[in-house]
Amino acid sequence: MSRLIVVSNRVAPTQEGRPAAGGLAIGVLDALKETGGVWFGWSGEIAAEPSSPVIEKQGNVTYATVGLTKRDYDQYYRGFSNATLWPTFHYRNDLSRYDRQEYAGYLRVNASLAQQLKELVRPDDIIWVHDYHLLPFARCLRDLGVKNPIGFFLHIPFPVPEVMRTVPPHEELVKCMCSYDVVGFQTDADRQSFVDYIERGNHGTSSDENMVHAYGRFLKVAAYPIGIYPDAIAKASEQFSDRKQVRSLRDAMRGRKLIMSVDRLDYSKGLVERFQAFERLLLNAPGWHGRVSLVQIAPPTRSDVQTYQRIRQNLEGEAGRINGRFAQLDWTPIQYLNRKYERNLLMALFRQSQVGYVTPLRDGMNLVAKEYVASQDPADPGVLVLSQFAGAAEQLPGALVVNPFDLSQMAEALERALSMPLAERQARHADMMAPLRENNLSVWRDTFLADLRHVATASSVTEKAVKRADVTA
Ligand code: G6P
Repeated sequence: MSRLIVVSNRVAPTQEGRPAAGGLAIGVLDALKETGGVWFGWSGEIAAEPSSPVIEKQGNVTYATVGLTKRDYDQYYRGFSNATLWPTFHYRNDLSRYDRQEYAGYLRVNASLAQQLKELVRPDDIIWVHDYHLLPFARCLRDLGVKNPIGFFLHIPFPVPEVMRTVPPHEELVKCMCSYDVVGFQTDADRQSFVDYIERGNHGTSSDENMVHAYGRFLKVAAYPIGIYPDAIAKASEQFSDRKQVRSLRDAMRGRKLIMSVDRLDYSKGLVERFQAFERLLLNAPGWHGRVSLVQIAPPTRSDVQTYQRIRQNLEGEAGRINGRFAQLDWTPIQYLNRKYERNLLMALFRQSQVGYVTPLRDGMNLVAKEYVASQDPADPGVLVLSQFAGAAEQLPGALVVNPFDLSQMAEALERALSMPLAERQARHADMMAPLRENNLSVWRDTFLADLRHVATASSVTEKAVKRADVTA
């Protein structure tokens, strides 16, 4: 079978057990370990000048990483990727800004990464590119003459055409995306937004088989919801339950109920609204004072992007205000922790809690929601309160689904979750474990890669046929 090359902006830490922020790092590493291959991307370091990739082999995975210069980092990562695309794709165009130079840097870094990867590509490799940092990557590889099958998976939402068009170079970006052979999204709604962009703008057509013909290319455009390995998580959460930190939390709770949330500190995660809905619960139901705590773990990321500094300040203010208002000498309503924890430890913490509180304002999938469910003890499971705007809501029928803009509804859902009888909790948990097992991480990877292998062969045949027809016409 052909070798797999994975390309993503951030390459997961190469040492086992190190915390990895974000669904991409988790999902891709697990998938790559199963097939073996190369993982190419940014090392996370700033380099004085561009240099060739550093190669490190670990088991069956070869990591090839490159540094970015300060200018590249500012324009490509901090600028166009995280100050333009990220907010807009999460429907926060109020927070988005556009700078032509940053966009030029984004294109330049994509081209230079493609140039570096080209040296590592063998003729029969297949290439799988991930996320919004690399929308033009296939186009850059094609310009260099790379003919291998190239697929793309977007881990974050794809916005409806009206929102997409607020990004000034929107059409160039979508055209670039059509250089891939397969473009995958987390949900069908995201896929539909992309197809709507193409069709409503008269840029191409789509067929019932999820094939798109646009800008002279044929590509498959489909939804591939990313999964987890629920049984491995269940096992880890049980094994790690005896860790010192988990025992300390259990002791500190002294019979109180625990609501757990874990997110990167990002404005898309709805953390302010989440705190305020918890406050509303305490206001509406004083019987819970002293009997429930919210633990919010929120490791800071992208702290040099201004919008992230603002959300951090906001959140600190809200946690302080709510605690000041309700805390008692022996009870702190919100424990707010700005640090990373090892993944297995988080799973064990989830298992100790009665409620998983996952309420992003917009999210591609949200693996934390899935991991929360998988971490539970089936005999006494916690309840998931989940935003309707997380891709995961489509696949977790047993969750209490809420609109994160409706604080009263969230407060009611928290109360319902905290008081839910055991039989209902067990039934809801079982309802969610079945689809999680059925659509696990291997299914995500295998379906995507099977489509990539298939479509790449089929489309090259079709393109040759179209060219022949053009010549004879
Ligand atoms: C999200 C994105 C990933 C990204 C991760 C962490 O999950 O989809 O592409 O790697 O966040 O963000 P960072 O900017 O620290 O890489």
